[in-house]
Amino acid sequence: MENRIIYYDEIDSTNSQIERLAAKGARHGTVVMARRQTAGKGRRGRTWESPEEDNLYMSLLLRPKLTVAQMSMLTLVMAYSATMALEGLGYSGIQIKWPNDLVMSGKKTCGILTELHMKGRAIDYVVIGVGVNVGNQAFPEELEDKATSLFLETGKKIDVQRLALDIVSRFEEEYERFVTVGDLSYIQKEYNARLVNCKKEVRILEPGCEYTAYAQGINQRGELVVQKEDGTEEAVFAGEVSVRGIYGYV
Ligand code: BTN
Repeated sequence: MENRIIYYDEIDSTNSQIERLAAKGARHGTVVMARRQTAGKGRRGRTWESPEEDNLYMSLLLRPKLTVAQMSMLTLVMAYSATMALEGLGYSGIQIKWPNDLVMSGKKTCGILTELHMKGRAIDYVVIGVGVNVGNQAFPEELEDKATSLFLETGKKIDVQRLALDIVSRFEEEYERFVTVGDLSYIQKEYNARLVNCKKEVRILEPGCEYTAYAQGINQRGELVVQKEDGTEEAVFAGEVSVRGIYGYV
């Protein structure tokens, strides 16, 4: 993957900027970073608050030769890569909330938004956006129980560009392995070892159906395997489902 990194002081959303560049033919591996976003996007149509607090706002353009089923696994590859990059920088206690939030002390410190763009029935390109709360010194009251930053967790400041480069280069490595293997079997054990929901009771929120189950870990396809109260197992697909802890965010 050949990376070209484009920096902005301010942009609406790095994901949206990648879309505009992709429409003009930008290459696989293009990366956009911004110091702040004025219309940062979160999952499920939510907003991602993006103040300039030495935080990481970055998106990556991929033009992968993968199936649509494999696309949902890419988000998990990024969550795993970001975890590995942070561990490599000396951060400990990073956990993953399935499928792709990074968590420290039970609070979210990184979110990932993957957007798939189709041309007819084929995949045109994919945008993977990563937001890491790096330097926030405080969060608004409504987020206090749910969000944290690397600074709040460790009291240390870190160079955001260095973190971005580490995540991109780790992702490159993991992406190559993923494309070769074709599924997540090669990181399944490592991912599950960091899964905050593992062996815990979770609430599964499917469209039109909610239930409580025990999370067992991900399978090779990145689905969350849960054991229901009647003892049967189900593999939950990340696309439409969200998982909550019984007592709060994790
Ligand atoms: C989530 O809801 O957890 C996903 C948040 C993803 C935020 C990042 S910040 C960089 C990129 N650009 C965006 O507009 N969103 C993603």
